[in-house]
Amino acid sequence: MKILVCGYNGQVAQALQKHLAGLGELHVLGHQQLDLAAPEALRTTLRQLAPGLIINAAAYTAVDQAEQEPERAFAINAEGPRVLAEEAEELGAPLIHFSTDYVFDGHKAKPYTEDDKPNPLSVYGQSKLAGEQAIAAVNGKHLILRTSWVYSLHGRNFLLTMQRLLQEKPQLRVVDDQIGAPTWATSLASSTRLLIERWQSGQAGAWGTYHLTAQGETSWFGFAQAISELLKARGVPCAELLPIPSREYPTPARRPLNSRLDCSRLAQEWQVSLPHWQQALIDCLK
Ligand SMILES: NC(=O)c1ccc[n+]([C@@H]2O[C@H](COP(=O)([O-])OP(=O)(O)OC[C@H]3O[C@@H](n4cnc5c(N)ncnc54)[C@H](OP(=O)(O)O)[C@@H]3O)[C@@H](O)[C@H]2O)c1
Repeated sequence: MKILVCGYNGQVAQALQKHLAGLGELHVLGHQQLDLAAPEALRTTLRQLAPGLIINAAAYTAVDQAEQEPERAFAINAEGPRVLAEEAEELGAPLIHFSTDYVFDGHKAKPYTEDDKPNPLSVYGQSKLAGEQAIAAVNGKHLILRTSWVYSLHGRNFLLTMQRLLQEKPQLRVVDDQIGAPTWATSLASSTRLLIERWQSGQAGAWGTYHLTAQGETSWFGFAQAISELLKARGVPCAELLPIPSREYPTPARRPLNSRLDCSRLAQEWQVSLPHWQQALIDCLK
């Protein structure tokens, strides 16, 4: 079976490339070969390749920049995924698509379930929600996996930024009122492999939208503290960390204060769940 992974240099796409080996004939295509913002060329490539499974790990992920270029964000995060879903349906191929906690406004006091109504605060969140809706409307075999706070040793993310700043600065102010689950791209890739194996062996759960993040929760400040502790344990001197509220760190895009996603539905339906975020961070930095 041909497996198409959209995204090449991305955190999740890179992890998938490593972790899906042996499951099929893997085609990992970056934006130069497969541009989600060019629907006609996208259709042509999909028809030529005719994959038996499509995994979309590509997205417009520049959350603040998206406020300035909503058309591009919607083209990549909504129109592209709609074409992927339509072509997947034509091919009879399942589509696995990643989405985000930023589809929610964060006002709920508890972790969000898949039944909660999305209400994105940012253009990025709106464009990702539109992508989810477009895929669901096609109504083919699909898994929309909403995740949060993705990091890896590759690309641009909070872990790599903190590692650098903790060693460059004497003091660092980090937001402590946004709560979520930092999720390692490698954990997402391993669980995606499990989902594919369940489907391939005829043990698939129901298709649809699911939450998939690391277990546990913390704030960005708590995540920074954990990174700092692990660096200090290796003898690396680190900046002093100071907690601040979001209002003291204004950004062009608003972020939800509560990013916690309840992942129990995927555990029940597909028997897939991720390790605790603290364990994953230790494993990532090993
Ligand atoms: N990062 C997070 O904190 C976070 C949180 C929640 C959900 N998510 C979701 O998780 C998924 C993976 O995120 P990630 O962190 O791995 O993203 P990432 O590291 O920013 O990578 C995104 C990739 O998308 C590709 N891309 C951008 N524009 C494209 C276009 N026009 N056509 C085709 N590909 C294009 C780029 O591909 P190439 O450079 O490879 O060509 C880029 O490497 C996304 O759906 C994202 O929305 C991420």
